[in-house]
Amino acid sequence: MEIKKVMVIGAGQMGGGIAQVAAVAGYDVTVRDIAENFVQKGLGVIEKNLARLVEKGKLSANDKDAAVARLKGTVSLEPAREADIVIEAAVEKMDIKREVFGELDRLCRPGVILASNTSSLPITEIAAATKRPDRVIGMHFMNPVPVMTLVEVIRGLQTSDDTFKTVEELAKKLGKVPVAVNDTPGFVSNRVLIPMINEAIFCVYEGVATPEAVDNVMKLGMNHPMGPLALADLIGLDTVLYILEVLYEGFADSKYRPCPLLRKMVKAGYLGRKTGKGFYDYQPAK
Ligand code: CAA
Repeated sequence: MEIKKVMVIGAGQMGGGIAQVAAVAGYDVTVRDIAENFVQKGLGVIEKNLARLVEKGKLSANDKDAAVARLKGTVSLEPAREADIVIEAAVEKMDIKREVFGELDRLCRPGVILASNTSSLPITEIAAATKRPDRVIGMHFMNPVPVMTLVEVIRGLQTSDDTFKTVEELAKKLGKVPVAVNDTPGFVSNRVLIPMINEAIFCVYEGVATPEAVDNVMKLGMNHPMGPLALADLIGLDTVLYILEVLYEGFADSKYRPCPLLRKMVKAGYLGRKTGKGFYDYQPAK
């Protein structure tokens, strides 16, 4: 099936980014979120990002207008009936993912691929909520989506070769580099990244160094573009904690235990950039 219409579930940081790159790549995109204000906010961020690309001379004004015209917002799942692929980037909760995938399975034509942008939840378990587990796959984009080149393509136990190849091709058409990964907790990206961030938080918790010092060590000593604590603020501390819990539970291994300071910060509502405070202070998102 030729992919022309893409539906993205979730208009947040990740869903919005995926919708943006898909619209710029020439696909008709419908972005769905659960409330109209989330949809409008997501579309507004995309328009702003595209306007910035025009200002920088990286996108023509005509191409921006064409991309915006290809984007639609909705609070309904019904447009999934028309979609050639659905990419889900909703909240990281298994019961919600399974509910959404079950509903998408009922709405979508046979053969339509249902992809999840989950950062760590098992694709095989999400697929089991559908009657098309061979057409379910992980398509894990990195934040910020328009900038980062990687897409981890995760095969569940029953994902077919055809599904894998179609998604690999789509990722390339979106200007990304797909990397094949099997379905284990955290896949590769977060199995490596998140324990590093957790260890950086332990350094602060144990008084080894300040957040600025920890980040400087990794930036200046390891050439990371940003330090692990600044990156945790970008990802969202609630998401970092959630992925650690998935690793801790999934492997039943104490090496993934979340740092108590991370738990405390999440409980306090210090979630990073999105709330204006994490390891650093930010202007709260308007
Ligand atoms: N959306 C769109 N574009 C953005 C952006 C955003 N949110 N943030 C930055 N950019 C663009 C900027 O406009 C700029 O573009 P130009 O080069 O065309 O001017 C470019 O990215 C570089 O930005 P800056 O000059 O402002 O700052 P920088 O050089 O420090 O780069 C960064 C910012 C790209 C975020 C860089 O610091 C970086 O690569 N950080 C690491 C990001 C990373 O590791 N992401 C993976 C997170 S893990 C994940 O996503 C998986 C998961 O499941 C948790």
